[in-house]
Amino acid sequence: MMAMEKIIIAADHGGYLLKEAIKTHLMQMGFSVTDEGTDSDQAVDYPDFGGKAAGAISAGLFPRGILICGSGVGMSIVANRFPGVRAALCLDEETARLSRMHNDANILVLAGRKTDSETAFRIVRTWLTTPFVITIQK
Ligand code: RB5
Repeated sequence: MMAMEKIIIAADHGGYLLKEAIKTHLMQMGFSVTDEGTDSDQAVDYPDFGGKAAGAISAGLFPRGILICGSGVGMSIVANRFPGVRAALCLDEETARLSRMHNDANILVLAGRKTDSETAFRIVRTWLTTPFVITIQK
């Protein structure tokens, strides 16, 4: 039997609801999901949660992860401070595809207050299934 691919996910209060929806979606896709919180819509500091997940990616414990805050900006800033992390804030499928093909992004950042769950599912599926292609981009 093939091992389930591991993925790590985290959010602050601005991304909590979308995180829950995406977690279910990922499990339905067959992923083994590690959820670093937060666990409610009570206000928290996004670096506490983004840092845990980005640190785990940086340490090689997970091949990829998903972070969500209200705008996606805070989580992007936090995640990209960690060595080996390439976090991409994606508001649409095209950016998600390019962040994999051209940038080999290993963290997808989503905006819980800008992106509805159906759009987010499409972004996640595109991001997870697009390979990195090594070429000189024009
Ligand atoms: C929280 O209100 C919000 O500022 C946070 O989720 C995020 O958008 C920060 O970048």
